[in-house]
Amino acid sequence: MLALLALAASTAAAATPPERSLLLSADAMVDVTSGELVQDAAVLIVDGKIVASGPRASITAPEDSETLHLAGHTLLPGLIDMHVHLTSRADQHGYRQLALSDERKTINGVVNARRTLLAGFTSVRNLGADAYADVALRDAIADGDIPGPRLFVSGPPIGITGGHCSDENLLPAQFQHTGEGVADGPWAARAKVRQNIKYGADLIKTCSTGGVLSRGTKVGAPQYTLEELQALVEEAHSHGLRVASHAHGAEGINNALRAGVDTIEHASFIDEEGIRLARKQGAALAMDIYVTEYILGEGEAAGILPESLDKERATGTVQRENFRNAHRAGVTMIYGTDAGVYPHGENARQLSRMTQFGMSPAEALRSATVNAARALGREEQLGQLAPGFLADIIAVAGNPLEDIATLENVRFVMQGGVIHKEPQA
Ligand code: ARG
Repeated sequence: MLALLALAASTAAAATPPERSLLLSADAMVDVTSGELVQDAAVLIVDGKIVASGPRASITAPEDSETLHLAGHTLLPGLIDMHVHLTSRADQHGYRQLALSDERKTINGVVNARRTLLAGFTSVRNLGADAYADVALRDAIADGDIPGPRLFVSGPPIGITGGHCSDENLLPAQFQHTGEGVADGPWAARAKVRQNIKYGADLIKTCSTGGVLSRGTKVGAPQYTLEELQALVEEAHSHGLRVASHAHGAEGINNALRAGVDTIEHASFIDEEGIRLARKQGAALAMDIYVTEYILGEGEAAGILPESLDKERATGTVQRENFRNAHRAGVTMIYGTDAGVYPHGENARQLSRMTQFGMSPAEALRSATVNAARALGREEQLGQLAPGFLADIIAVAGNPLEDIATLENVRFVMQGGVIHKEPQA
């Protein structure tokens, strides 16, 4: 059993509840905000929260603190992936999806949530799930019934008839199948937003262009009119929810930004206007620049349709160059991978691609920590190893600022003060 309650072990017999504290130390710690390595570092954790962090010599721990030293390791804040599909599997693409019940997909989610957490991702945004399976997963994790990242979920993605979000184009007309999130027109879009809020969504996911993996949609073609997007975003914002829009083509990206969406997913063909709008409005881009390697390498065997492979060939390379452009222009970048299209647990592979396409290791880490936390509206709780933050802490062997790929092998995972993974002796 990997999961052990590190902090539950102190003196239960005391009359008043004891301060359950742990002094976690390691050879070093990454300060993601400054991008510096703090040598001989420690974090003091009390009741699942960080109360002090920095050079070990600067921290005074209560006398009855437990201690844990991770020799040869570097501590970092738990990573955040802003675009995953926990209920999807990398080997179940195209027509294979038609064989899956909502219940089976939910069980995928249970398995994949654990994998994602053990890979060092202590929080993730799940962007689209049928039957509110994501809400159930989020709550089961929050209740401590199953291990998994803290989930921020959208429920069914909201989009046009026959669009990328509705994902309903595999069946011919006689089956009369309509995707759960289909809504045409401003009022129908508002109604779907209300429904998703009613059933527990934390945010709204929509699609303002076609996609790579949806049958019969065009990545360059806009989906939804500006008017529809404005209604959807206004409705979501009025209830305090943020909006993430899937968008590859420039026109649909710009429509979404003009409507006020908070994050653009993929952003593959973003143009100068999109970059300008994103900067002006403080919208963030989640550009999934690793997944192209999986789609083109393993996609055919995984059931991805030939038309989707063609669309990917026309998208991936441009997206990587535009990632470089947008980052250089100073747009806020958040870490979103589209895991589920490729295997869950491999979420960290994108970090090295981000450094390949223009980021420093510290910038790549910020996209997956502080920037992501801000885009979630949780910048005071998540994404830093600083006093007041939740004790979501990971460790890798060696120095990730020198070799970002060390994050592909996370050795220690703590979430809210609970240890889920420890280095093997
Ligand atoms: N879910 C996305 C879509 O179907 C995946 C896009 C992957 N390709 C890429 N180059 N990012 O559109």
